[in-house]
Amino acid sequence: MIIIRGDILADQNKVFVLNGPNLNLLGMREPDIYGTDTLDDIAAALDDKARGLGMEIDFRQSNHEGHLIDWMHEAQAEGAKAIILNAAGLTHNSISLHDAIKAIEVPVIEVHLSNPATREAFREKSFIASAAKGTIAGFGALSYELALEAAARI
Ligand code: DQA
Repeated sequence: MIIIRGDILADQNKVFVLNGPNLNLLGMREPDIYGTDTLDDIAAALDDKARGLGMEIDFRQSNHEGHLIDWMHEAQAEGAKAIILNAAGLTHNSISLHDAIKAIEVPVIEVHLSNPATREAFREKSFIASAAKGTIAGFGALSYELALEAAARI
């Protein structure tokens, strides 16, 4: 459904799913923590789920902070319904990602495969959490599906 939000056309079916550094290595990266699903596996399962919910996802990954910021601006310009963001390690050090979330109207749902609160002390701080609509962490690939369900209902 296309609606008007402010002065932009909003695509209320589309959810951007943005993934940060090192998540391209899922499947082989610390599988005891992150599981054996690859990012492509997660994207495929999420695409199926999105169709079932009558939604569309745009699933992307970058190892570069600026790409994530540009993509958030793009989601805003397109009037996306929501952004699901796994900022990976940038979660814990990026004021620029925090500012990008604050700068747009599109609600951002923070996701993590692992539960950072149960890991090293340096993962306890999230620069995403205080700007995001909400956070889902610790459920492996299911975190993304739960985030999509949340996106469908906000
Ligand atoms: C992660 C958790 C972060 O602390 C870590 O830096 C990641 C992945 C997760 O999905 O569990 O790269 O975001």
